[in-house]
Amino acid sequence: MALENPGERDIKELELSSEDMRALVNQAMDRIVQHIESLPAQPVSDVTGGEQLARSMVEGMPEHGTSFAELLDLLFNRLVPKTYNTASPGYLAYIPGGGLFHAAVADLIADSVNRYVGVWAAAPALAQLEANVLRWFADMIGYPHTARGILTTGGSMANFTALVTARRERLPKDFLSGILYASDQVHHSVAKAALLAGFPEENVREIPVDGQFRIRLDALRASITADRRQGRSPFFLVASAGTTNTGAVDDLEALADVAREERLWMHVDAAYGGFFMLTGRGRKAMRGMDRADSITLDPHKALFLPYGTGSLLVRDGSALRRAHTVNADYMPPMQEDPDLVDFCLYSPELSRDFRGLRVWLPFKLHGSGAFRRSLDEKLDLAAWVTEELRQIPAMEIVAAPQLSLVAFRLVRAGLGVAELNDLNHRLLDRINAGQRVFLTATSLGGSFVLRICVLSFRTHLDRIQAAVADIRAAVEEL
Ligand SMILES: Cc1ncc(COP(=O)(O)O)c(C=O)c1O
Repeated sequence: MALENPGERDIKELELSSEDMRALVNQAMDRIVQHIESLPAQPVSDVTGGEQLARSMVEGMPEHGTSFAELLDLLFNRLVPKTYNTASPGYLAYIPGGGLFHAAVADLIADSVNRYVGVWAAAPALAQLEANVLRWFADMIGYPHTARGILTTGGSMANFTALVTARRERLPKDFLSGILYASDQVHHSVAKAALLAGFPEENVREIPVDGQFRIRLDALRASITADRRQGRSPFFLVASAGTTNTGAVDDLEALADVAREERLWMHVDAAYGGFFMLTGRGRKAMRGMDRADSITLDPHKALFLPYGTGSLLVRDGSALRRAHTVNADYMPPMQEDPDLVDFCLYSPELSRDFRGLRVWLPFKLHGSGAFRRSLDEKLDLAAWVTEELRQIPAMEIVAAPQLSLVAFRLVRAGLGVAELNDLNHRLLDRINAGQRVFLTATSLGGSFVLRICVLSFRTHLDRIQAAVADIRAAVEEL
C-alpha cells in the first residue's frame, strides 16, 4: 500500500524553523519580562469575576490554529491577572514560593532537548547532574553517603513516597494494623498519603501540641504505649520542620530518640522549613534532622523554584530502591554500581520532566550563598514584622516565628470567641483589600488567626513595611 503524502508542508508543520522558534521565544519573552518587571505594582490578589471567566473558557479541541499574539494576549491580559499573585513580593499567604526565572530558562532547555533522565543508560551525565542536586540536599542535612533521593512534583508526593517506603520496610506483608503518628498541626498531605497508601483513617494519630504548637512528647509516648497494648503496630512518626499553620518546628532530637526507642520510622516533613538548613539559625532550630529516616524538602517553597519541584531524601537509599523496584523486559539494563542512579528504581515515576536542571541552574549560576543570604533575610523580616506587630495595641502574637512565619490576631476585652473571630475576619479582609499584601488565616483551637509567611525571594523590607502600615490602618478603621 502506498503511503499518501498530503504534502511536504502539512506533515512537517509541527517542526518549527529557526525563525519560528526565535519568534515564539522572543514574543513570549517580551510579555514575560513586562510581566515580571511590573510585578511589584500588580495587585497581589484579584480573582473578582474569576468564575465567569473560567466558565467562558470552556471550549472543545480546536481544529485550526490561532495566532500566538492572540494567545499571549489571552494569557497575559485576561487569565494570568485573575489569580492570587503568587509571584508578587506582597504574597505572604499560605507558604509562598516565588518562582525563580532561571528555572523557567532551565525548563526551556530541558523541554527542548527532551532527554530521558529516569533511566541512567539513556542520559548518564544528565542523570548525574540531577543526582548531584540531591547530593547537595543530602549534604546540607548531614546525611551519609548511603542516602538517596528523588525530585518529586511537590511535598505531597514526597510524603506519600516516604510512607510507602516505610510501609514496605517495616510492615511488608500486613500493614493494616500499622499506626502513624504526627502532631495535630501536621500538613494534611500526611493524612492523604495514609489514605492513598491504604491505611484505615483511624490508624492516623493526631497528637496534641504544646504552647509553641510542637508535638507533645508525653502524649506521643502515651499513644504509642496504648496502641502496643491493644496489639496494634506503631511504625511511622512524622515530625514537622515548619508547620503550615504557625511554622512550628517539632523537637527533632527528642523525636529521633522516641523513634529509636520505639523502633519507628521517623519522617520529617520539612517541606516548608527544610532549606533553612542552609542558614545558621535554621540549623539550630532543626537540630536532629539528620537522624530521620526520610525527609521531605520542597524546592518550590524555600528554594523559590516554580511549582512542581519537591523532593524526598531517604537515609538508607536502598530502602527507597526496594520499595520502587520493578523490572520489565523492554527496559535497558539497570545499574548495579551504587554511584550510578536509575531514578525510576527509586520513584513511582518512569517518564517525567528533567526537574534536576531547574534546581541545578540557579545554584550553579549564583552559588548556595545567594540562597543562604536570601533565607537569612526572610528570617530577619519575620522577626522584624513580629516586633512591629507587638507595638500595635491589642495585637496578640499567637505564634512567634520559629522560622519565617508569624501568627497573630486582634483581641478585645469582653468579646466572645465568635465575635473575636468575626473581628479578625474583617481585619484580614481590610488588610487584603489594599492589594499591596495578601495574607491568609487559619484556625487554632477554634480561634481565627492571621498569618504572615515571609518566603519569596522578591519580598524585602519595603513590602514588609507596607504590610505593617496596612495592618495598622486596618486596625484603626475597625
Ligand atoms: C508543611 C507542608 N508539608 C507538605 C506540603 C505539601 O506540599 P505540596 O503542596 O508541594 O504538595 C505543604 C504545602 O504547603 C506544607 O506546607
